[in-house]
Amino acid sequence: MILIKDGRVIDPKSGTDEKLDIIIKDGLIADMGKFPKGDEYEKVIDAKGKIVAPGLVDIHVHFRDPGYTYKEDIESGARAAAAGGYTTVVCMANTNPVVDSKEVLEDLIRREESLPVQVFNTAAVTVGLKGKELTDMETLKAAGAIGFTDDGMPIGDVKLVLEAMKQARELGVPISFHEEDANLLGSAGVNEGAVSQAVGVAGASSLAEETLIARDCLLARKTGATINIQHISSRVSVELIRMMKKLGVKVWAEVTPQHFSLTEEAVLERGALAKVNPPLRTEGDRYALILGLKEDVIDVIATDHAPHSREEKQRPIGEAPSGMIGLETALALGVTNLVRKGHMTLPHLLEKMTVNPANLYHLDCGSIKVGGRADLVVFDEREKWKVETFHSKSENSPFTGMELYGKVKYTISRGRVVYTDEEDWNES
Ligand code: DOR
Repeated sequence: MILIKDGRVIDPKSGTDEKLDIIIKDGLIADMGKFPKGDEYEKVIDAKGKIVAPGLVDIHVHFRDPGYTYKEDIESGARAAAAGGYTTVVCMANTNPVVDSKEVLEDLIRREESLPVQVFNTAAVTVGLKGKELTDMETLKAAGAIGFTDDGMPIGDVKLVLEAMKQARELGVPISFHEEDANLLGSAGVNEGAVSQAVGVAGASSLAEETLIARDCLLARKTGATINIQHISSRVSVELIRMMKKLGVKVWAEVTPQHFSLTEEAVLERGALAKVNPPLRTEGDRYALILGLKEDVIDVIATDHAPHSREEKQRPIGEAPSGMIGLETALALGVTNLVRKGHMTLPHLLEKMTVNPANLYHLDCGSIKVGGRADLVVFDEREKWKVETFHSKSENSPFTGMELYGKVKYTISRGRVVYTDEEDWNES
């Protein structure tokens, strides 16, 4: 048994925000209340002055397994998740081979069973992410896919998207979209404008994102599908989603910590480390994303954890791949840039990182309840730390060297401590 003592327990799902002790037994939360320390506990965690929250849920990660395991694999990805306070993650399907068949999916699910955190999988909407032919969505859902997405490869064919939405609605699962119309993209990863000119690339306009968001929300309105717009990045995108929600469209929206923390200027300072699809945009866009979170137009904070090797990121900006790792900095970026700046309360931030993402994909996690899985994060919102090293296999973060507030002290998954920042802790 483990006793977590004297922490401020924040559970956005139940609205709990009070000083409580938590007893963990057999992987579950056995009790909550006030309990004396005693010999019956194999471990007592002193959470005085710290926050105890549901283990974080990230519905947008790339673990690169199979196919690109020099960047990340499911083991290193799971360790990075645990170090960031996450106990549940959802992998994207842009692996090699793509997760577009029962065989690839079942192999992943079998290997994911023994990981320290809970890992779920989406499957591709189109075969090989080629945007030409739909996958066998029914079979993939039956095999364990919790949703569908061609993330990384926006789908151009509107008829195909319409049909995919119909099927997703029938199957009762969400379908998630990376919105950037290839026909309107000069080049991906850097915002079109002064910065793209300065670094000598054509750049990615927000129009490419906004037109597809409008298209897909209208298709969702017609089909009744639940759709999720991934990593939105522009002010107009926020306003489109606000309007579509008002029209009754079942649309959810994700934002990444990099998009609410940085602007396109980061490309001038950090080069390809700040290259990401969709790109970091202007201060006006960043502010609109924060307002979108605050006003619940944006439902979820998801990292788009996208590992790439050092060699790949050292290529010239036009050739380097887009994406950045994010699992190990997300909570601190939320605390530093949203909570400490007065934009959001801590419970509100945690809502976007626990119960909301769990609800979108119908996952039984993201909350704290007696009898439920003991998936928890204990963190110190006041502790300042410098971003230096990572548990991920990759280190492509534009945040390296920055000082952030909000440090993960313990991550507990199924009642087991899977991460602590104690120096003598042995990960194995
Ligand atoms: O920048 C990105 N990189 N955006 C995506 O949507 C995909 C990701 C990747 O897989 O590297």
